[in-house]
Amino acid sequence: MRKQLITLATVLLLPTSLMANSSAHLESANIDLHNHASLQNGAKYFMNYCQGCHNLSAARYNRMATDIGLPVVPEKTGKTGDEAGKVADANAKLVAENLVFTKDEEGKPTNLGSLMHSAIPAKDAAKWFGAPAPDLSLVGRSRGADWIYTYLKSFYLDPKRPTGVNNTVFPNVGMPHILWELQGWQELEGHGEHDGHEAKTLKLTKPGKMSAAEYDIVVRDLTNFLTYTSEPAQLHRKKYGVFAMILLSIFIVLAYFLKKEFWKDIH
Ligand code: HEC
Repeated sequence: MRKQLITLATVLLLPTSLMANSSAHLESANIDLHNHASLQNGAKYFMNYCQGCHNLSAARYNRMATDIGLPVVPEKTGKTGDEAGKVADANAKLVAENLVFTKDEEGKPTNLGSLMHSAIPAKDAAKWFGAPAPDLSLVGRSRGADWIYTYLKSFYLDPKRPTGVNNTVFPNVGMPHILWELQGWQELEGHGEHDGHEAKTLKLTKPGKMSAAEYDIVVRDLTNFLTYTSEPAQLHRKKYGVFAMILLSIFIVLAYFLKKEFWKDIH
């Protein structure tokens, strides 16, 4: 019995201790899933910088476009008649020109109804980077927004790694520092002992095209976009939740009067 209790306690406590460990030093992403401008900016950066390696195989362009405020289907534009068609066509053009860079098997630009697949086959990615670039469809849920945000800000130069970089939240990562042009290069600097551990901080030693504040916005928008794609329905789910609560409250009132009616003759 004691043995079983110990096993149970370990099983219950282990995940919390692991979580405590991995959530240390994460910066808060402060994302807003209702901010269409942020989601559109995130989508643009994702298609330009990330989709070359990563799939978002659970998402389709047209659904994504509608959710981030660029509906490509006339019925979803909130307009009627000719205007609905015009808005949808203009959005479709915008999405095709700015967000769709892959081609289908026949070499034609990918259709807006397609899944968001990456341009390189997984086996080539595994050969080049040591690990295949994982599908990022669910990364917003598996890692969480703060982790993604901190991860994209934590690449630093490490000559011991084949890619020349390492990452403080993902040690020995296989992914190169894709956004180096924007952020620049960071180095890990030690500051001697602090509470028994060696305190290390990241320092920007070679600035990129963007200021730190501008880079933070790009990374926040990318994180916002990946959090949205990991559960597109969350934009609607919370709204339905409110309706469900209102409906249930009505039933409580009805149930109360029904109870009164049933019990009125029993004293
Ligand atoms: C050159 C190919 C390549 C590009 C481009 C790329 N990645 Fe990666 N990425 C990888 C590889 C490879 C891994 C797996 C790393 C490992 O397992 O060591 C990875 C891992 C990740 C992970 C961690 C996934 C997990 O849960 O383990 C995230 C998040 C991520 N990439 C986001 C991005 C974002 C955002 C961009 C665009 C700014 C991007 N990647 C661009 C190759 C790439």
